[in-house]
Amino acid sequence: MADVVVITGGGSGMGLEAAKYMPKEKIIILSGRTVSKLENAVNTLKDLGFTAYAHACDTSDRESVRKLAQYAKSLGTVRNVINAAGMSPNMADGEKLLRVNALGTVYVNQEFSRVMEKGSVILDVSSNSAYALPGFLTKLAAKSYPLAETDEAQYLKKQLKFANMAKTDYQKAGFAYALSKNFVCWYAKKCAFAYGRKGIRVLSLSPGLIATDMGRLEEKEGSALIPFTAEERMGTPPELGYAIATAADERNGYLAGVDVLCDGGSTNGRAFKRK
Ligand SMILES: NC(=O)c1ccc[n+]([C@@H]2O[C@H](COP(=O)([O-])OP(=O)(O)OC[C@H]3O[C@@H](n4cnc5c(N)ncnc54)[C@H](OP(=O)(O)O)[C@@H]3O)[C@@H](O)[C@H]2O)c1
Repeated sequence: MADVVVITGGGSGMGLEAAKYMPKEKIIILSGRTVSKLENAVNTLKDLGFTAYAHACDTSDRESVRKLAQYAKSLGTVRNVINAAGMSPNMADGEKLLRVNALGTVYVNQEFSRVMEKGSVILDVSSNSAYALPGFLTKLAAKSYPLAETDEAQYLKKQLKFANMAKTDYQKAGFAYALSKNFVCWYAKKCAFAYGRKGIRVLSLSPGLIATDMGRLEEKEGSALIPFTAEERMGTPPELGYAIATAADERNGYLAGVDVLCDGGSTNGRAFKRK
């Protein structure tokens, strides 16, 4: 049976770049909502010599994720899942961001863990925004993270209460995005310990500002971070693709239950680059 790599949000950006670093003997499934985008991305991979398929899936819909997991299993051994699907503050309101980024991660991790075996990996893409909110706020918000698995309506209500403390609509979406990504880091850790005994390794990876379509859309607000990076620049999609692909490789077997902060140093730069 061939090994299968599933990449949600694989039709563009970092997900597609990560695919390009996969071993060619693996089957790659690119997933997302826009079929034409997926088909173009699959053709790019085929031209590079990969075996690749497109499969539409909305990660904020559990049934859609379940079907993706079943499809992946029908093609071989599901070895690597890269959950790169996500939306940013300029794309949607707070509720939508929480549904896609946070609840989508719950669906992907839960549904794929059911079809994965020992020696497999789930990598959830988070964001350095996970570290951006004041500590007391994230600590309070985190108290209701477990509700995401048991009572989605209450989870959303409580997270939106915190997000809506911000002033403008953009800031509210920004808070919701940051909370959704802080949740992703927390949930990947939770899953690492829940699935570890089954031999499924789970981790998250948090990019900084990266020059993908999404990064360009957020560049106006996000560029405030650039002076705090070590090299004072945005990250490139291939750099992040490589970081994601290697962190999600099963040979990187001891990297579990942790968030890999891949942000050019911008989170730590606030302490070291104060002028
Ligand atoms: N670029 C940055 O600066 C940055 C920084 C930190 C974190 N991130 C995170 O990195 C990940 C990848 O983003 P990117 O920068 O590579 O941007 P991107 O090119 O916009 O990729 C995001 C992908 O997610 C897909 N997607 C969105 N909503 C979805 C849904 N409900 N179900 C399935 N797929 C969905 C999109 O395709 P469809 O619209 O066709 O579904 C798109 O292909 C995201 O999780 C993002 O939050 C990005």
